[in-house]
Amino acid sequence: MPTIEERYAEKFAKSVDWYQRGRSLFAGGITHQTRFTSPFPAYFEHAQGPFKYDVDGNEIIDYVMGNGSLLMGHSPPEVVAAVSAQAQRGTHLGGATTHEVRYAEAVKSLMPSLERIRFTSSGTESTYLAMRLARAHTGKTKIVKFHEHFHGWHDYATPESGQSVGGVPQAILDSVIVAPPDAAALERILSEDDDVAAVIVECNGAHYGTFPLQNPQFLQDVRDVTDRHGVVFIMDEVITGFRLSKGGAQVRWSLEPDLTTMAKIVAGGQPGSAVGGRADIMELMAFRDDSEWDNAGRVAQGGTFNAQPLTAAAGLATLQAIADQGVNARADSMAERLKDGLNEAFIRNEVTGHSHGIASIVHVNLGADCGCDRGLCTMPYDEIYKTMPVSKTRRVRQAMLVNGVDMMGGRAFLVSSSHDEEVIDRTVEAFSQSLKELREEGNL
Ligand SMILES: Cc1ncc(COP(=O)(O)O)c(C=O)c1O
Ligand SMILES: [Zn+2]
Repeated sequence: MPTIEERYAEKFAKSVDWYQRGRSLFAGGITHQTRFTSPFPAYFEHAQGPFKYDVDGNEIIDYVMGNGSLLMGHSPPEVVAAVSAQAQRGTHLGGATTHEVRYAEAVKSLMPSLERIRFTSSGTESTYLAMRLARAHTGKTKIVKFHEHFHGWHDYATPESGQSVGGVPQAILDSVIVAPPDAAALERILSEDDDVAAVIVECNGAHYGTFPLQNPQFLQDVRDVTDRHGVVFIMDEVITGFRLSKGGAQVRWSLEPDLTTMAKIVAGGQPGSAVGGRADIMELMAFRDDSEWDNAGRVAQGGTFNAQPLTAAAGLATLQAIADQGVNARADSMAERLKDGLNEAFIRNEVTGHSHGIASIVHVNLGADCGCDRGLCTMPYDEIYKTMPVSKTRRVRQAMLVNGVDMMGGRAFLVSSSHDEEVIDRTVEAFSQSLKELREEGNL
């Protein structure tokens, strides 16, 4: 019997050539740090609904879903129609557009805390802008982020975020305080340091909820602590926005952040992102017909492609579907079916592990018992680290790809409304088979 790695090499044989070409073009052969895959990545060419197809013609059930940006699956008809129509009517109009207004109205109608909005081109830009706004509003410098929480790749987001800090100036690293996700510790930090502008949080916990937060209590505590200290509370809803509920984590749990960052689903599968929140903070970006303010005080933002018409079209079509068509309920119920199936697979195969998660994000943990309710997992973080090291998640992802399924990071499934019962059941089968094969190789 060939090993999983040998079957991977055989199944994705044509990808090897593309990897060789990619390696001579891209640093490290890849275009995003999470696309690093050993021994080589599969090269995909097209996708539809819950499936994507590689150069060898393999059909893969996809749970990466555009790194979480595709809540309705690949190329949903209403988004394709909107983008195609706009592509023939101009992709950059070089001025204010009616599209950006309709788009922003749709965002705001789902997330009422957004008194004002600005669009950017990526989540990284949005968290960068939100931090700059918070500094301008408070006149303070430092940012508090939580251990392992990921907010993109700009300098201020790098400390303890699961990525390295090569090339980041020490002065910037010194201006970021990394806190444990613990309200009492946050209270202490803000009591001892009065130069903090903002606290930013990945709303469902580090790395799309791999390290879950005990919500809504934790987020409510952060809201209360930041209120008491006059610090701006930034909810990073890049992943949770329009996924944890139609209005994200804040609507699901009735929270009012000062600022919110969004990307992925908000842009309907196109590049795009947004920042929004309190008018008094956001209006620090406005011109005031006062040259000193305009040139020296105002918070600046550029961005050639902010709210570009294709993104506005895709975002609007997606948000309208979320508002009217039960997209979240469908994705959530498919995720529930998947989670139940995975938990049964663990029991059936007598493998220690479990699956947990809320809304349409399903996580797996292999190697330890856990008494959680399979919703918000309560496993201690050091246990999660120990049981799901990168060496293991890479093997899981590889085994699942061999069995026709692509997982997010080898530890999660981002489910969409295009995944149906049959696809979910095939996924559970693939997972069960992968558990067996990994165990046979002594890799669990
Ligand atoms: C919570 C969170 N914030 C920010 C970002 C950065 O977004 P982008 O990749 O669009 O720059 C991500 C990306 O995965 C994210 O998950
Ligand atoms: Zn658990």
